[in-house]
Amino acid sequence: MSLLNLHEYEIAAREKLPATAFDYYAGGAGDEITLMDNHHAYDQIKLKPRVMVDVSKRSLSAVVLGQQVSMPILVAPTAFQGMAHDEGELATARAAHAAGTVMIASTLSTFSIEEIVQAAAGSPVWFQLYTYKDRELTKALVNRAAAAGCSALVLTVDAPVQGKRERDIRNRFQLPPHLTMKNLLGAGFEKFPHAPDNSGLSAYINTLFDSSFTWKELDWLCSITRLPVLVKGIMCAEDAALALQHGASGIVVSNHGGRQLDTVPATIDVLPEIAAAVGEKAEVYVDGGIHRGTDVLKALALGAKAVLIGRPILWGLAIDGENGVKHVMDLLRDELDIAMALCGCTSIEAVNKNVVFSGRG
Ligand code: GLV
Repeated sequence: MSLLNLHEYEIAAREKLPATAFDYYAGGAGDEITLMDNHHAYDQIKLKPRVMVDVSKRSLSAVVLGQQVSMPILVAPTAFQGMAHDEGELATARAAHAAGTVMIASTLSTFSIEEIVQAAAGSPVWFQLYTYKDRELTKALVNRAAAAGCSALVLTVDAPVQGKRERDIRNRFQLPPHLTMKNLLGAGFEKFPHAPDNSGLSAYINTLFDSSFTWKELDWLCSITRLPVLVKGIMCAEDAALALQHGASGIVVSNHGGRQLDTVPATIDVLPEIAAAVGEKAEVYVDGGIHRGTDVLKALALGAKAVLIGRPILWGLAIDGENGVKHVMDLLRDELDIAMALCGCTSIEAVNKNVVFSGRG
């Protein structure tokens, strides 16, 4: 019998993947308090069912950064998908295409951005950008993403240094030797540096990423590209306002899946405040802890334009490549559809904060 929900995918992926790869994907920083909170916070929010509404016709379609998607569920950027499946990011891109949604490709992918865009076959791909100390390299990545056909940049701003991820330190996390970070091949940064007593990724980030990148550099980034820039890793209204002042077209409320600073709040708990501060000025997205269609509905109700799904995509990829990712997306789509119908909503535009009981948001 096929897997019924995203929890079952995670359990099956844990069985199948090498422990080091599973730990890298699943783990968080420190005591993993935020990692758990991201998920559990959704359980505390209660949906308000509405009855005797004609819900016989329903649509989940949405518009994100001007692009039509079949549902407000996007593929979050996650690194090194080749560890989950040989076809890695290509399988994910094909599944995102089949699901009618956006894939956000990571700078740290195991296929190149050109290959990923090609696999997406005309469906939108956004490029997640890490900023390297080598400013010319950063600029080259931006230009490459645009030339490849990406339609937005997603700038990750919460990783000037890497969070303390003890699973990876314990495992001395390394990329399997057959994999490289293909976007970085020409620059010579396609492998982790020698770090026998540490997570190789931690050594990579702490050596190469630009920890001096500030709002001024966001101005610079926006000046060198025509692509809209979403700023990912915002956890308070003050930073959301700064991001908009410095040219961002949108915000991704994110704590990097609990992988950076432990004991920060769950993303869903700060979303309402940030959405209220941003208002109609820009689009607000959220990621972290979403496992159910009911979670998606809650995020939309509390102000998200769409949600980003990270780890469950990797579980689908590990279990059955493209088909697994597609099935994960379909499960979430079906659950969202049922939840909307039972809350009396027939379209995404009809979802608002009345869908949840007050007390949050
Ligand atoms: C990479 O972006 C990570 O968070 O592991």
